[in-house]
Amino acid sequence: MDTEAQTTVEAPPVSPEPLMQMIQGLQVTAIVQAAVQLGIFDRLAEGKNQIGSIASGVAADERGTRILLNALAALGIVETSDGTYALSPLADAFLVSSRPTYLGGMLNIMAGRWAWAAYPRLADAVRAGGTILEEHAETPGHEFWEAFAPSSVGVAMPAANALAEILGPWAAEHDGLEVLDIACGSGLYSLALLAQQPSAKTTLLDWANVLELTRANVEKMSLTERTSYIEGDVFEVPLGGPYDLVFASHIFHHFSEERCLELLRRLHDTLKPGGRLAINDFVPSGSRPADEPFPFLFSVIMLTWTREGEAYPLSTYERLLAEAGFGRVEVHPSIGMPSSFMIAERND
Ligand SMILES: C[S@@+](CC[C@H](N)C(=O)[O-])C[C@H]1O[C@@H](n2cnc3c(N)ncnc32)[C@H](O)[C@@H]1O
Repeated sequence: MDTEAQTTVEAPPVSPEPLMQMIQGLQVTAIVQAAVQLGIFDRLAEGKNQIGSIASGVAADERGTRILLNALAALGIVETSDGTYALSPLADAFLVSSRPTYLGGMLNIMAGRWAWAAYPRLADAVRAGGTILEEHAETPGHEFWEAFAPSSVGVAMPAANALAEILGPWAAEHDGLEVLDIACGSGLYSLALLAQQPSAKTTLLDWANVLELTRANVEKMSLTERTSYIEGDVFEVPLGGPYDLVFASHIFHHFSEERCLELLRRLHDTLKPGGRLAINDFVPSGSRPADEPFPFLFSVIMLTWTREGEAYPLSTYERLLAEAGFGRVEVHPSIGMPSSFMIAERND
């Protein structure tokens, strides 16, 4: 018997490297999250560049800090030479908390407590076809949304400004524009428009605990006089109105198509004839998942975290909007995140 032939394993036709990177993805997130939680990037931005001074600056052990800094260097977000450490251009732009472009808050959203609790049970969510968490995205006033509102500012601000630019010429034709911002979170989508349109007013709707945080942004932007609030479930509370414009940013992906249609009908009825609905959401364009990964990966978050939500394609939005009584849908790419703006007009 040829024992050599029995023990020889043929080299696989592909390298395992991409798979190994996927398997280590959890560790990469944990490394970046720990560095943000400790304030490592802020200390590096202050010019601390030796392990000792960085460790004492973040009140951590030197050995632990050395191992973490070297892992950050291995990932390429910290640069190191001759025993000193410095920010990479990527970390300098996005991980120093005083920068207006700071994105560290995204860790509270993508890798918050709920995520570390939910992902180990993803297989159960796949079996069930939806969240198996007792407390999830649809739990009224879930504390996650309190973390979301301030943490989303870094990504919401550029997108909100871009949407305000797109709507600006139309909004300027409507003196005293009345706006409703549903599931408003930070409120930045309508607040950015108000900052640009001096006679516009907005009504901000979300759970009561989230609106406490929205108020802080309203005050910071000195827009208190032109702002009012509706607390509660967007499917249940009276919406007031009629409005010229409704913002619905990153909310439809939480629900089934039937619930989306129910909500679209409510929003249609709260608009003035000719009024507009501006939706911002993650919308797969029809490309293969490998060519456009984000919305497909995002749908997994919705699988773990909602009962029936997912990222819907444009064709679904177009169909549901038409059924709810809206006319042609204008589509624009967002800025800073892989979202699309869909602007529809009330038909009658
Ligand atoms: C993904 S965040 C989007 C926030 C903001 N529109 C943005 O794009 O940054 C979803 C928001 O919807 C709110 N929300 C979820 N379900 C809701 C419901 N049934 N009624 C009112 N608000 C709801 C949450 O509290 C949260 O602020």
